[in-house]
Amino acid sequence: MGIVFGGRSGEHEVSLRSARSVMDALNKDRYEIVPIGITREGRWLTDGDPLHTLESMCSAASRGDEDVRERRSRRELLPGVDANGIADVDVLFPVLHGPYGEDGTVQGLFELADIPYVGAGVLGSALAMDKVAMKAVFAAEGLPSAGFVAIMRWEWSEERQPVCARVEQRIGYPCFVKPANLGSSVGVTKVHASSGLPAALDLAARYDRKLLVEKAINAREIECSVLGNDHPVASLPGEVIPRREFYDYEAKYHDDATQLIVPADLPAGKVAEIQALAVRAFTVLDCAGMARADFFVDRVTGQVYINELNTIPGFTAVSMYPRMWAASGLPFPDLLDRVIQLAFDRHHDRGRMSTAYKNDG
Ligand SMILES: Nc1ncnc2c1ncn2[C@@H]1O[C@H](COP(=O)(O)OP(=O)(O)O)[C@@H](O)[C@H]1O
Ligand SMILES: [Mg+2]
Repeated sequence: MGIVFGGRSGEHEVSLRSARSVMDALNKDRYEIVPIGITREGRWLTDGDPLHTLESMCSAASRGDEDVRERRSRRELLPGVDANGIADVDVLFPVLHGPYGEDGTVQGLFELADIPYVGAGVLGSALAMDKVAMKAVFAAEGLPSAGFVAIMRWEWSEERQPVCARVEQRIGYPCFVKPANLGSSVGVTKVHASSGLPAALDLAARYDRKLLVEKAINAREIECSVLGNDHPVASLPGEVIPRREFYDYEAKYHDDATQLIVPADLPAGKVAEIQALAVRAFTVLDCAGMARADFFVDRVTGQVYINELNTIPGFTAVSMYPRMWAASGLPFPDLLDRVIQLAFDRHHDRGRMSTAYKNDG
């Protein structure tokens, strides 16, 4: 099986850490592991030890050795994708986070190559990556999520006053301003008063052409792991308690004071409500295999809001997705067996449909 890691996203390093822990935990008697690395520039590496190569590039880049990072044109990169043959593996496990990995693009490539792969397909990946599209589906399906307005970057640059007025009238303060397509809290700002709104929108507009402003919820942050295809099941929930004002990039990757509590201390009724919402969110976004569902639970009213779904959650030694399964009685190596089996099941299921279509024609 091929493990794909690295990639052209801000979460490149997290991906390398996840890939390392997945490779360590996989049963070597059962799987022959083919490591497939993607550089920050998008080049695919299969020769030698790609994980080690990318890890060294990361440390070189953090030392400021710019020349170690390669510079290549897009034209040179594309042929690398088929030449470096993803075609020889039985199943692929994309351990990639963010754009160009978790957003349906790489999943489209695997579909074209007709290779089973772990996790959501093109549509589920794309919906879960775009916060505006995701929340529109949640709203249509009656799943509670924080009130929001969507703003296109061109609107913000051409009509700043009307955009601010719309935000204040529909959302108010405090609010969260975010780019629609990113992760790791990059470009996310909590805004407390109108004086902070323009800078927050300018920042988010640096990362995406689609932005959103959400009502801030004074909430506990609860997460829940989902596993399955047609009949997904939910794990025990966990809780994230950042020491900073919110769960920003620093709190996620650099702040040891962030507490990750598994399982979360919640009444049984709340656990059941969160698990049911996690499974529904997974289903309405047409996810497959695995996803981590993130919630806000209002500290005052107890109301549960779905925040987002992450279709390729972190798989590092301390990551919530595997930890919540371990706490629910599914150890890491068994979890990996399950997601890989689900990849084959889904591929088989889709293959069956297309054959039937041909026969009918
Ligand atoms: N509406 C909200 N109310 C309260 N906190 C929020 C809200 N939106 C975002 N946050 C905070 O910002 C963090 C990052 O936002 P999120 O939408 O999860 O983006 P990302 O996809 O980058 O993780 C959340 O984990 C939470 O701490
Ligand atoms: Mg998040």
